[in-house]
Amino acid sequence: MSTAKKEYKRITVKSLTEMKRNNEKISMLTAYDYTMARIIDNAGVDVILVGDSASNVMAGHETTLPITLDQMIYHASSVLRAVERSLVVVDLPFGSYQSDPKEALRSAIRIMKESGGHSVKLEGGSEVKDSIKRILHAGIPVMGHLGLTPQSIYKFGTYTVRAKEKAEAEKLKEDALALQRWGCFAIVLEKVPAALAQEVADSLTIPVIGIGAGSGVDGQVLVSHDMFGMTHEFNPRFLRRYLNLYEEMGNAVGQYVKDVKDVDFPNDKEQY
Ligand code: KIV
Repeated sequence: MSTAKKEYKRITVKSLTEMKRNNEKISMLTAYDYTMARIIDNAGVDVILVGDSASNVMAGHETTLPITLDQMIYHASSVLRAVERSLVVVDLPFGSYQSDPKEALRSAIRIMKESGGHSVKLEGGSEVKDSIKRILHAGIPVMGHLGLTPQSIYKFGTYTVRAKEKAEAEKLKEDALALQRWGCFAIVLEKVPAALAQEVADSLTIPVIGIGAGSGVDGQVLVSHDMFGMTHEFNPRFLRRYLNLYEEMGNAVGQYVKDVKDVDFPNDKEQY
């Protein structure tokens, strides 16, 4: 049997289900701007998430709660102008879908129309059932998000691993099955025990993409600024840094400052 991976010119929600069926793991990274999205899309990542983590890494807020729908649309539009192959998922920000399903649909429609996004993601299970169904009925693909849902950080009080206790694990499993039943095309599972995450992934036909959820799921997602090592104070166990850009960029800036002060930059060839 051939082990060659299918080549996808464009990733769609259907491609992701197919990847799960073919045991091909799904790669997903965040992006919030044109330049980063261009690099990530070109390098072959399957899914780009315009995450509300922009609130943290782009705007410097402590939580994801302050980012607005307008700001998410601005980030998503920048990303969409760069992307040729990846499927783009855009986070519905806190406050744009929880209060009533009509508002949830209006928010999702704004994202689709104004940014050109391919799908939306929102946090929660049974609590936001009506919002999810309403958005899906309008033909907008929805990715769920369970486990550590950062928009509920003030309810949890901590960013530690979720669903370690039986009751919370059972609710998570029920929610995952319900998200699939309602028609979500995939689920992000954040910071839950690896055994539970694998059990959830094995029980579903839609892909489960993990962050801090072990290797038994159908794909992985990281915040790109963490993965590139641009952030350096955030050090959870699940994070693998592929570069140390915080240091490298800092060194480059230091060298630039020195060159300017020493009148070494620009040299004869760098001027008109
Ligand atoms: O906003 C985000 O970056 C996310 C990921 C952590 C999954 O939701």
